[in-house]
Amino acid sequence: MFDFITEEHKMIQAAARDFARNSIAPIATEHDETGEFPLATVREMGRLGFMGIEVPEEYGGAGMDTIAYVLAMVEICKADASHGTIMSVNNSLYAHGLLKFGTEEQKQNYLVPVATGQKIGAYSLTEPMSGSDAGTMKSRATLNEAGTHYVINGRKSWVTSAPYADTVILFTMTQPDKGHKGVTAFIIDTDQPGFSRGKKEPKLGIRASATSEIIFDNYECPVANRLGAEGEGFKIAMTVLDAGRIGIASQALGIAEAALEASIAYAREREAFGQKIGEFQMIQQKLADMKCRVDASRLLIYQAALAKMATTRGGGRYSMEASMAKLFASESAMYVTTQAIQIHGGMGYSKEMPLERYFRDAKITEIYEGTSEIQRMVIARSLTGLR
Ligand code: CAA
Repeated sequence: MFDFITEEHKMIQAAARDFARNSIAPIATEHDETGEFPLATVREMGRLGFMGIEVPEEYGGAGMDTIAYVLAMVEICKADASHGTIMSVNNSLYAHGLLKFGTEEQKQNYLVPVATGQKIGAYSLTEPMSGSDAGTMKSRATLNEAGTHYVINGRKSWVTSAPYADTVILFTMTQPDKGHKGVTAFIIDTDQPGFSRGKKEPKLGIRASATSEIIFDNYECPVANRLGAEGEGFKIAMTVLDAGRIGIASQALGIAEAALEASIAYAREREAFGQKIGEFQMIQQKLADMKCRVDASRLLIYQAALAKMATTRGGGRYSMEASMAKLFASESAMYVTTQAIQIHGGMGYSKEMPLERYFRDAKITEIYEGTSEIQRMVIARSLTGLR
């Protein structure tokens, strides 16, 4: 049916499915309970090529396209959305940014080790008082008199993978009086003086992924580590987020698929009032609505992935398609996981089954990399051309 899905795509999908079932699913519940970062499986995902799927082989990646990326993301997230978060940020927020905006030297030094999975990358835009309104930030980078280094000060928050990241793409103000046109992007080495990590966030879901503040105290960033030109940071941040939103949509789809499959199996097996619960029309209605939303999410994700691939060839933006995919897939994941718990009744509410984990993990997809409200804003602005 989808003739853009090739044999090569099916191979990476199958490899991701095998790895997810054999290596991730067995440890997912334990890592959710302890909140321990799954470093060993993340490193293995790097060896298998899942941490830089769209990065060309010359820079250490798998050299595949966005369809390959979403197929692999869905499989990983069906087993565990925490692994999916780490994979998504590494691939689309970090590697995509370096690939699109980095110099050759920056790619060799900072893309290759992250695309191969030897090192972990992060992306840092949000601050304690600057979330959805991303153009307002209090952190600052000031060029020193010799013109060799920027001195960075400030506090960033909600940075996925920060406790383990070796390198971070940071967005901060170089010219505060220029608003979003004063934002500049930098590549940060987390082992340098002046960088530290703040408290790790205790989270409702994706508990095995690690999220923390990062703090800059007179951190000296060489001019060679500026990503793009001064003042280009906001556009870089937004461009990269468009790619990230396809990753998060795929994560939401993976969670929803897992919840739907569990619900179908339960409806076929569980009996009440002398019949299978799947024979009750109220359960049938739930399953039918869940399936429609899962498949509609998948179609919007394919549309966004194909739009991204078309812009890679011909230029332009795919912001609306990415936002539509993220908005619909994340809200569908909340719907589907809620219904899945309802179908399972008490068992769905119990920690003995993964349904309640799917439900907790789904919620973040409506919040990070742009809330549902922000996605609606992007879609409506794209439709009308108004602000
Ligand atoms: N691609 C390229 N350029 C873009 C763009 C895009 N997707 N979106 C906006 N721009 C450009 C505009 O063209 C404009 O350029 P000019 O100045 O040349 O005209 C400029 O950026 C400013 O655009 P807007 O006027 O539209 O900016 P705004 O202040 O109104 O904000 C917004 C727009 C869509 C609301 C944006 O601020 C936004 O997406 N906010 C949400 C931020 C977000 O997703 N944060 C999550 C961070 S990551 C995370 O969650 C943690 C993690 O680790 C996973």
